[in-house]
Amino acid sequence: MFDKTTKGELLGFPRDFLWGAATASYQVEGGVAEGGRGPSIWDTFSRQEGKIHDGGTGAVACDQFHRYPEDVALMAELGLPAYRFSVAWPRVMPDGRIVSQKGLDHYRRLVDELCDKGIEPVLTLYHWDLPQALEDQGGWRSRRIVECFANYAMTVHDALGDRVRQWTTINEPFCSAFLGYGAGIHAPGHTDPGAALVAAHHHLLAHGTALRALRSRAREGQQFSIALNFSPALADGYGPHYAEAARKFDGLHNRFFLDPLLGKGYPSDVLEDVAHLGGLAEAIKDGDLATIAGPIDWLGVNYYAPTRVKPLDDPHAPSNCPLPGLRGMDVLPPRPPLTGFGWEQTPSSLTELLRWLNWHTGGIPLIVAENGAAFEDKIDAEGRIRDDERANYIAEHIRAVHSAIEGGADVRGYLVWSLLDNFEWSMGYSQRFGIVHVDFETQRRTVKDSALFYRDVIARNAVPSGS
Ligand code: FCB
Repeated sequence: MFDKTTKGELLGFPRDFLWGAATASYQVEGGVAEGGRGPSIWDTFSRQEGKIHDGGTGAVACDQFHRYPEDVALMAELGLPAYRFSVAWPRVMPDGRIVSQKGLDHYRRLVDELCDKGIEPVLTLYHWDLPQALEDQGGWRSRRIVECFANYAMTVHDALGDRVRQWTTINEPFCSAFLGYGAGIHAPGHTDPGAALVAAHHHLLAHGTALRALRSRAREGQQFSIALNFSPALADGYGPHYAEAARKFDGLHNRFFLDPLLGKGYPSDVLEDVAHLGGLAEAIKDGDLATIAGPIDWLGVNYYAPTRVKPLDDPHAPSNCPLPGLRGMDVLPPRPPLTGFGWEQTPSSLTELLRWLNWHTGGIPLIVAENGAAFEDKIDAEGRIRDDERANYIAEHIRAVHSAIEGGADVRGYLVWSLLDNFEWSMGYSQRFGIVHVDFETQRRTVKDSALFYRDVIARNAVPSGS
């Protein structure tokens, strides 16, 4: 696959570099009413008229709840050293509080299957499928969620801690809080910017509280992390107004979530930007920032694309971008080449991001926990999927990681999004990110050319330079 997809000399990676693929429970599991699982906010949201692009839900998705042995076998065939997956809170605690042994048993079987095949489980505790019962009590808007999350984290750790070394508390609090409670485009679908900021604080506090609890029972070699989604702001012009537009976007999208984790507190410029919304200052109690700043062993970096921005004449004019309280700047259309989803392909932004993170975090180890691209796939007459564009996107971004490492960033792994085509949230089944194709009628899996390319990268621990 190497010779066809890319050429050039091989760029090698550090010896223990962690390669793998990622998914998330609601996007792949299905089996939503099986094994005693309770409803999640995504079950409720996706059933509402007009919320999901094609009216899809995660009720069946990739049916990984039943097909995990087949999927793990496929991972083994591809030589994947790691699988990042998430645990569905409502499967383990149907009402968010009371433990379901059946639910835990499911993940035990999955983890055993992975370990038996020598695949490292990288477990995310929360990838957005909140038990509906907890949302009914305020969800992430309510501070009570923090204790519930810590209890849930400990329950999963008690059950799987003997086999799982890599733990991520929360995936992308930005999306869960801002898109779910502010922009209304993700579950639970609220459009209250003030509540979105409070929800964001509760995500970070839940992370810190769970982290502290997990550390108190950590086993040797266990590592704890959180995964943030970064979108570097690229100003579409020069001068102080453009720099200011980039500052605002970067502040709310990236630094607002990162800085408190590093013990720097919420960035004061962002607090000023959002002060007109109210609510956040009251939600931050004494001691919260210290809790949030507990040490992590690595930071999960989810990266897909940068965001182009420009200033507005009126610094108080509402932005076209629905982040809470964002004013005085607009987001511009992405610049080609685009993915099938319409996302910009700028691998150099990933290099810069990783180098900036290395500096800004004081050298915390980084793992690219998600990166990948959606394109339309065609199965040819031979039954093959020649997804050269996806393979190329992945190759270029792996090269970008290589450059960052050359530049001194401590990047320890790369996990492609995604192992399988799956339920892409509000876009339903219209966006295929998998390196493995899923026929959602038959559940048949077909390895795409991009998976074969990636298999070769992993086998050689190196990527062709491309030129
Ligand atoms: C990320 C999500 C992941 C997937 C990719 C495309 O923001 O974490 O679940 O939807 O985007």
